[in-house]
Amino acid sequence: MTAATEAAAISRVLIVGAGTMGSGIAQVIAEAGITAILCDVDPGSLERGIDAASAAWDRAVAKGRRGDEEIARFRAHLEPGTLADVAEADLVIEAIVEKLAAKSALFAELSAAARPATIFASNTSSISITALATASGRPDRFLGLHFFNPAPVLPLVEVVRGLETSDETVEDAVAFVATLGKTPVVVRDAPGFVGNRILLPMINEAIFALQEGVASREAIDEVMKLGMAHPIGPLALADLIGLDVCLDILETLQRDFGDDKYRPAGLLRTMVAARKLGRKSGEGFFVY
Ligand SMILES: NC(=O)c1ccc[n+]([C@@H]2O[C@H](COP(=O)([O-])OP(=O)(O)OC[C@H]3O[C@@H](n4cnc5c(N)ncnc54)[C@H](O)[C@@H]3O)[C@@H](O)[C@H]2O)c1
Repeated sequence: MTAATEAAAISRVLIVGAGTMGSGIAQVIAEAGITAILCDVDPGSLERGIDAASAAWDRAVAKGRRGDEEIARFRAHLEPGTLADVAEADLVIEAIVEKLAAKSALFAELSAAARPATIFASNTSSISITALATASGRPDRFLGLHFFNPAPVLPLVEVVRGLETSDETVEDAVAFVATLGKTPVVVRDAPGFVGNRILLPMINEAIFALQEGVASREAIDEVMKLGMAHPIGPLALADLIGLDVCLDILETLQRDFGDDKYRPAGLLRTMVAARKLGRKSGEGFFVY
């Protein structure tokens, strides 16, 4: 069977975790005409996740970018669900908190209830895909599908190959990502893969510069926007990602590389301790 016909077999996707990423990923999948079932341990988060996709579609109609019939089709492909829906899923995409223990426990639970052929994917930013694959008990049908934030807007998906991921699983995942209208880039499993290994040290350095008083937050972001042609400054980007997520990623990079060059800036820890998490909490380096 070719990769293209295999990919056509992915018609139901369970997305676990309805936060910033899970909600955006579910939206993208529903827009591609594939059933997206979104679930979350917190009912309030699940409702907010479904509402976020719905609000994006309302805006698209209001701006004349999408028609009513098209949006009705999208809505018909997005459903709230529970972990039990894994039994009918062809693919699971996990987008919960960036903690190895929580993700490992979830994959062990899901794998026990899923069909053997179901492919498991994590949207982790930095955690070892090979470690999560081991926890799932299906390491050949496990990989990273790393969407970028905001998922409905950014074209890249890093397809992360664990030590035991099969060629067929990678081919199916690449074809699936292409059906979403995204661009898959296949990379090997290593802490932070490619994107966050390069991005997070830059964000961390911007926070060090701020805590040392080298320049104001506005000035730091202005330098990177006007001098390096970045569309958004590193401190505003940290707010978009979520400061708790940034801290989790840096801790994983420091631990898994065993290299203190990734040590998180003290100011980042302080901000997270104060629950100033960026856009999602209303305040981070900037106020929203
Ligand atoms: N924020 C980003 O820019 C970004 C980009 C790419 C990848 N990621 C990764 O995506 C994942 C999710 O990040 P996010 O920013 O969407 O986080 P978030 O905090 O916005 O959402 C996480 C959601 O997971 C839910 N959750 C936690 N534990 C759960 C469990 N055991 N079962 C079900 N739901 C559970 C929470 O209730 C919450 O709704 C992380 O692994 C993160 O590293 C984040």
